[in-house]
Amino acid sequence: MSWLHIKPLTISIMATATKTSAKTIAKAPKAQPVNSGKTPAAKAVLASAKSAGTASAGKTAAAKAKKSPAAAAAITTEFDSFLIDELKDIYWAEKHLVKALPKMRKAATSSQLAMAFEKHTADTEQHIKLIEQAFELLGKKAQAKKCEAMAGLIAEAQGIIEDTESGTLIRDAGLILAAQKVEHYEIATYGTLRTLASHGGKTEVAALLEQILRNEKETDAALTQVAESFVNEQAAQE
Ligand SMILES: [Fe+2]
Ligand SMILES: [Fe+2]
Repeated sequence: MSWLHIKPLTISIMATATKTSAKTIAKAPKAQPVNSGKTPAAKAVLASAKSAGTASAGKTAAAKAKKSPAAAAAITTEFDSFLIDELKDIYWAEKHLVKALPKMRKAATSSQLAMAFEKHTADTEQHIKLIEQAFELLGKKAQAKKCEAMAGLIAEAQGIIEDTESGTLIRDAGLILAAQKVEHYEIATYGTLRTLASHGGKTEVAALLEQILRNEKETDAALTQVAESFVNEQAAQE
């Protein structure tokens, strides 16, 4: 399957999949001029686009197949390679978030928010295990690839801690803001990956991703509840 085949699917899920869609589109349109191009330059673009499409998803399925017979059975298309590449991204994100959440818990003023962060630290440990299961189902060893978006969101949370006074509810309002940005990022990512896995016939992987997605949504709702129950109102009076 080529990137051109993937593109219509990607567009269909853009509404809930900003990050992954943007990445995919950034890779896919390189082939667009080729469809109408008749010049040698256009042909060169085609060759380049095919090469880029393969490279962006990591090593080719054939190269992987040489390494492991199990992988040969499991990884059959560039679509699978793309899914695995994106799993590496969110795997990195979760592994770094699980280290950041305890710092957010310690920084929180209210016990309610501290408890929410403590619970989600445990949730996130579980997400890491579920992603590892997804890698296993795809015949791959779990591997992380730096997620620039999550690195930025974690840095933003750290910035809020530095910019607010401890013991204030403004601090909690800021931490909730930072945490909800993280949850929304995760919701977008898991929503997309779940859909991609489902369309690729990876129903067990899709079920794991759906399980994580549900928890991220619950966490987002729990944070809203803490904010609306008292944090926002009291923060505004400080
Ligand atoms: Fe998560
Ligand atoms: Fe989360």
